[in-house]
Amino acid sequence: MPLLSLLLLLASCASANKYTVGDAQGWNPGVNYTLWVDKHRPFHLGDWLVFYYQSGMADVVQVDETAYNKCDSSHPISNYSKGRSYAFELNQTKRFYFICSFGYCYQGMKVSVLVHPLPPPSPPPSGDKSAASITPFTSFSAVSVAVATVLRLLF
Ligand SMILES: *[C@@H]1O[C@H](CO)[C@@H](O)[C@H](O)[C@H]1NC(C)=O
Ligand SMILES: *[C@@H]1O[C@H](CO)[C@@H](O)[C@H](O)[C@H]1NC(C)=O
Ligand SMILES: *[C@@H]1O[C@H](CO)[C@@H](O)[C@H](O)[C@H]1NC(C)=O
Repeated sequence: MPLLSLLLLLASCASANKYTVGDAQGWNPGVNYTLWVDKHRPFHLGDWLVFYYQSGMADVVQVDETAYNKCDSSHPISNYSKGRSYAFELNQTKRFYFICSFGYCYQGMKVSVLVHPLPPPSPPPSGDKSAASITPFTSFSAVSVAVATVLRLLF
């Protein structure tokens, strides 16, 4: 059980993913980003979207749902156009909307992703409060054992 906790703990620490929007096609006109989202979802809190574009040829504008549907970049939540890439952390559990302000979403340059909460590291059995309150201690002692083991191997 301690080993399982440790594995789950490590898994949750390492769970933030970086997604290249459009994969090899990047953030460019003529890419179907709905298909891209379908391929990579679910997205979780702490994951990153990385937009790669040709310098001066595109921007990344975060908008709300209404503006997204209308390809309206006149009231952006945020906008970015410097350099050739932009990394955005999905730091809230909600739906994020991004468009390119060049033209009318410039041949489909719009993407929306729904961000889910991180799955709990070790789901406590429902209705068992004592087990739930013990879990953090179990994880902590598992880490202590792991650290002690590593130290023993090093010295
Ligand atoms: C993307 O592909 C899906 C599935 O083939 C299709 O339903 C959708 O209309 C396409 N979207 C665009 C913007 O072409
Ligand atoms: C993006 O921000 C810059 C500087 O704040 C502004 O000049 C530009 O008009 C904005 N672009 C869009 C599409 O909102
Ligand atoms: C999420 O990240 C954006 C951009 O870095 C930042 O402006 C915003 O305050 C962050 N929101 C939260 C809830 O941390």
